[in-house]
Amino acid sequence: MQDESAQDFPYRTEYKKKSIRSYVIRAGRMTEGQRRAFDNYWGDYGLSLFGGPLKPREVFGREAPLVLEIGFGMGDSLLAMAEAEPDKDFIGIEVHPPGVGRLINNAGKAEVKNLRVYMADAVDVLNDCIADGLLDRFQLYFPDPWHKKKHHKRRIVQPEFVRLICSKLKPGGLLHMATDWENYAEHMLEVLEAEQMLENTAGKNHYAPRPPFRPETKFERRGQRLGHGVWDLLYRRR
Ligand SMILES: C[S@@+](CC[C@H](N)C(=O)[O-])C[C@H]1O[C@@H](n2cnc3c(N)ncnc32)[C@H](O)[C@@H]1O
Repeated sequence: MQDESAQDFPYRTEYKKKSIRSYVIRAGRMTEGQRRAFDNYWGDYGLSLFGGPLKPREVFGREAPLVLEIGFGMGDSLLAMAEAEPDKDFIGIEVHPPGVGRLINNAGKAEVKNLRVYMADAVDVLNDCIADGLLDRFQLYFPDPWHKKKHHKRRIVQPEFVRLICSKLKPGGLLHMATDWENYAEHMLEVLEAEQMLENTAGKNHYAPRPPFRPETKFERRGQRLGHGVWDLLYRRR
C-alpha cells in the first residue's frame, strides 16, 4: 500500500495495512530542496520495503557493523553519527518525506557512503527486510510519546515490538532508546526490563547516561526548551 497524498510527487511512503500505527503521515510541506533531493539522491540512498531482505554486503560493498535507527525525523543527528563512525554502516527508517528529503540531500552533498534509508513503516521493514541477528546496534530517539492515555496503544514501544528488535540484534548487540517524556520513559523501562533477551547496561531498573555516540537530536532540543528531562535506556542483547 502506498500513500497517495501528493499527486505530483512520485516518491511514496511505503507501508502495509495495519489497524494501529505509531504515526500519522502528514501531507508535509516540503521545501523545493527536499523535493529535488529525491530526484538527485534517492537512487543513491533509497531502499524499498518491497525490495526483499537487505543484503548489507551488496548495498555497502563491505562487511561492517550495522546500526539501524527508527524515526530519524529531520535526520541531522543520524547524519552526524554516520559521519562520526565511518567504520559502521547505518540504516535509517522514517515515514515523513520532508525529513527523508533533508537527510538524503545533506548526505549526498557531503558524499556520505555509509548510510541508506527506507521511507517506510519501520515495523514492516523489520519484518520483511531485516534478517534475524543482523544488527549490531538499534536506535530509537524521542519516539512520538502519544501523551493521552487512550492513545498509548499507538506508542511504538510495546513488548511485541521489543521482542522483534531483539530478534534482529546480534548477541551482544546494543539497544538504545531515549525520550523526553517521563511517563513514556517509565513505560520503556518496564517493557525493556521484562524482556528476558536483554540486559540493562546501567543496572536493573536504571536509566543510562547519554552515551558519547548519541548527539543531541532536534526533538530533544525542543523538549529542553519546554523544560522536559531526558531519559536514555541502553541494553545489551544477551
Ligand atoms: C518525535 S519524532 C523524533 C525525531 C528524531 N528522532 C528526533 O529526536 O529529533 C518521531 C519520528 O518517528 C517517526 N515514526 C513514527 N513511527 C514510525 C514508524 N513506524 N516507522 C518509521 N518512522 C516512524 C515519525 O514520523 C517522526 O518523525
